Formats: sequence, C-alpha cells, structure tokens
Amino acid sequence: MTRIAVFLSGHGTNMEALAEKIRSGDLEAEIVFAASDNPDAGGLERAAALGIETKRYPFQLNGRTACEEEMARDIEKERIDWIVLAGFMRILSPEFVSRFSGKIVNIHPSLLPAFPGKDAIVQAWRYGVKVTGVTVHLVDERVDHGPILAQEAIPVETGETVESLESRIHEIEHRLYWQTLRNLFNGKIQFSERRSRS
Ligand code: GAR
Repeated sequence: MTRIAVFLSGHGTNMEALAEKIRSGDLEAEIVFAASDNPDAGGLERAAALGIETKRYPFQLNGRTACEEEMARDIEKERIDWIVLAGFMRILSPEFVSRFSGKIVNIHPSLLPAFPGKDAIVQAWRYGVKVTGVTVHLVDERVDHGPILAQEAIPVETGETVESLESRIHEIEHRLYWQTLRNLFNGKIQFSERRSRS
C-alpha cells in the first residue's frame, strides 16, 4: 500500500477528497498523517474527524529549518512514499526538496506556469483570462514549479464571478488530484523534461 503524508495550510477540502477516494477504494493508498504549518488549520480538524493522525509543524513559531528537520524525521520514520501538498502555503527549502527529490507532489489552481503563488484563482480572474484550470506537478526548488503530471483547462465565462470560478476550479481539483495520484502510484504517468530550466 502506498503510504502518503498530506500537507495543508487551510480548509483541507483537497485532503478530504483524497481521503474519500481512498475510503471508496478508487485510490489505493493510506494517508499515514495529515500535517500543517498552521496549528489552527481547519484541515487538521477535518483530518482528525476522518480518523487520520495529525501533526503540527508551527513554522511561524519555530522557523522553517527546525520544522523541516522535524518533518523530514517523521517522513522517514513513517516510511512515507509520497509527500502530497494540498494547499500547503509555505515555500520548502531547496535542501528539503532535494532530500525528497521526485517524491513531492503539488496541486495548484491555475494552468502553470501562469499565476503561481497565492490566490491564483483571483489573479487569473482579475487578469481577465478566457481559459484557466488546474495543474498537478512534481515539486522542484522553485515555487509552484516542476514537471507537470496533469492539467485540466476550463473556459472562464463572460460575466463569471470569482466565487463561481473558484467553485468550478475546486470541483476539478477534487477529481484531478486523486486520478493523477492513482496514475502516478501505478507508474502510468509520463512527464516531460523538455521544459526550460531558466
Ligand atoms: C487549493 O485550491 C489548492 O490548489 C491551493 O490552495 C487551495 C487549498 O484548498 N494551493 C495553492 O495555491 C498552492 N500554491 P483546500 O485547503 O480546501 O484543499
């Protein structure tokens, strides 16, 4: 069984969607623990309600270096196969990323490389793009960057509100993430190394 740790900073709806697909048997994996940099993240409560072990790494209080050291110890102790970022809003150090190179996956609510960083849905909506979407990718040393595993695009309708765009994007995320992880865990995914490193 593939052992995953889910890292989140906020509501945790993506974590919950993954947990549901694991429960239904569509995604063969185990969430060994759910963790957050934010001790008050709603997602930790959601995880606990689902019977998932939770861990807190208070970045703001203890700093990134100490937290990442503790995270790395737990990941190794628990023999985690994949680190799954689901709304984790901290930038991981190059040292941490290279220690777990090729084992960290992220979901981002835009068609990368467009609109990396925070509030991507609002950024895209304000920009007035006609098409946006969701990206699942392996994590490298840069923010919201790395080999793309899957993308799904949607048109932005004329007169669309940011709220309706957000809800349509989240709907895609809650399906695309588990489907992509299933392919990844089964070794069925191919990604391109053609992208520029500049
Ligand atoms: C999701 O939309 C996710 O793609 C985004 O945070 C949200 C978390 O929602 N992640 C990023 O922006 C990463 N740069 P959730 O806590 O309800 O899953």
